[in-house]
Parts: sequence; C-alpha cells; structure tokens
Amino acid sequence: MLAGMMRFYSARRIAITGASSGLGAGLARDYAAPGVSLALFARRNERLEQVAAECRSRGATVEIAALDVGESEPLGGMLRAMDDAQGFDLVIANAGIAAPPGEAGAAKQIRTNLLGAIHTIEPLIPRMLARGHGHIAVVTSVAALRGLPDCPAYCASKAGLRLYGEALRAGLAPSGIDVTVITPGFFFSPMSERLRGSKPLMVGSARVVRIVRRGLDRRRARVSFPWPIVALLRLLDLLPARLGDVLIRWFRFQIYAG
Ligand SMILES: NC(=O)c1ccc[n+]([C@@H]2O[C@H](COP(=O)([O-])OP(=O)(O)OC[C@H]3O[C@@H](n4cnc5c(N)ncnc54)[C@H](OP(=O)(O)O)[C@@H]3O)[C@@H](O)[C@H]2O)c1
Repeated sequence: MLAGMMRFYSARRIAITGASSGLGAGLARDYAAPGVSLALFARRNERLEQVAAECRSRGATVEIAALDVGESEPLGGMLRAMDDAQGFDLVIANAGIAAPPGEAGAAKQIRTNLLGAIHTIEPLIPRMLARGHGHIAVVTSVAALRGLPDCPAYCASKAGLRLYGEALRAGLAPSGIDVTVITPGFFFSPMSERLRGSKPLMVGSARVVRIVRRGLDRRRARVSFPWPIVALLRLLDLLPARLGDVLIRWFRFQIYAG
C-alpha cells in the first residue's frame, strides 16, 4: 500500500509559465535533459531565449512563447497547439508578480497571479481528462495562508489560487489527474529582491528548485515550506482575528516596483 502511495515519476513533456526568471527558469533548467520537451512562457522573449538556450544545451527540446498570461485567448490557443503536438504531462502555473500597494497594482496581481494561472490550466483540463492522466501544479505563497498587512491584493490572488488548486485536486483525482499546490515562503529571486523588510527563513534559489522538483516528482498534493512559517501562519489564522492582526504586524515589508 505504501509503495502505491509513494509514486515517483519525472515528467517529460512540461509547460512552465513565468519561465524567464526565478523559480520558473530554475525548474526549466532542472528538468532539461535528453528526451524532455519544454514549453516555456513569459512576456520577455529575450530572457526566454536565454533560458531556452541553456535548456537545449542540456539536451531538452524547447519551445518558447512570449505571452502575457493575463490574455486568455492567445495563451489558450498556444497551449492547445503545443498540446496537440506533444500532450503535456505536467503544467506548472508559476507566473506571478508582487506589486506596490494601489488600485492598479492590485488589479494586475489578481489578473496575473490568479486569472493567469486559470488561463494556463483550464485549456488543458479537457485534454488531460480525455487522456486519463496528467499533472497540474500551481505556485501560490505562504501569503495565501493568512492575510499579510502589506500586500492584501497579493494575498488575495494567492489565496484564490490556492483554493482553486485544492478544489481542482479534489475534483480531478478520480479521473487520474494529480494537482500539486505549492506554497512557498520567501526565496531568493528577482521578485524577492524588490521586497524590503522581514523575510524570515528565506530559502536559496537552488534549494527552492530542489524542494519543488522533489514534491512534483512525488506528485505530492501540497508542497509547503519552510514548515515553521507555514505552521505559524496557520496558527495565526486560528487565533481570534484581532490578536492575529497584532501578531501578523511582525511580518512587515515594502514592495518596490520592478
Ligand atoms: N520569491 C519569493 O519569495 C516568492 C515567495 C512565494 C511565492 N512566490 C511565487 O513564486 C512564483 C515565481 O516567482 P519568482 O520569485 O521566481 O519571481 P520572478 O523571478 O519575478 O519571476 C516571475 C516570472 O513570472 C513571469 N511573469 C510575470 N508576469 C507575467 C505575465 N503577465 N505573463 C507571463 N509571465 C509573467 C515573469 O516573466 P516576464 O516578466 O518575462 O513576463 C517571470 O518569468 C510567483 O508566482 C511568485 O508569486 C515567490
């Protein structure tokens, strides 16, 4: 029974959004190997080309698409065309932004972090269902576990995405599709460089790739780290709301525009 629960696999036909930088680029490089095909998405073509060249030098077949995940039609069309050619066995909805406070930034975060992930995943669900297998991963954040005072819209976007992923997992598992909800704390990347303030238990850029890859290879339901931050935020959410609000103010930081 244990052997049945501990399934290990390494995906070979993989779509990754937000692959021009940070975690997405790191995962692309980590998966890159002979026999692996990668479809890499982000807005900056030049950066995607650089990541693609590194992945090709490791033996992978790579296609790139410079697209905004907030635009459902071009993204959906491209995903369907690529899926026709290769049949993705793993899609990682990783693209995300953190914006300074304000109405424009708030809307952008919801559009990119939540709608962008939904635009990435929805076109592939009927195809995975028809094939009877597949693996979907969403990159959320510990900010999805308890509202942080300096980034309400980021929290909202990631909490929405976390619940979207949890709901998909419950619904799709009987049809052979796994869903992994990734909930990272702070890790080194261009995004975290734009945050000033407390970033407790920050994880290195190579380590975050290892943790996420291991969780994906094991088809884990959840990959949440670092555990003390996850436990603390879950505990704060259980406390009376105003006490939780006082304690959460220890997590103060500012987001600078990218
Ligand atoms: N770094 C942290 O401490 C941390 C902690 C928890 C969760 N996360 C989450 O982890 C994920 C990866 O973040 P990271 O730290 O690796 O950040 P990053 O280095 O800034 O990378 C973000 C990626 O998303 C892409 N992207 C942003 N907006 C996009 C859009 N509208 N359309 C398509 N692609 C878009 C960016 O590419 P282009 O600019 O080329 O489009 C880039 O490739 C994000 O979802 C983030 O919210 C990060």
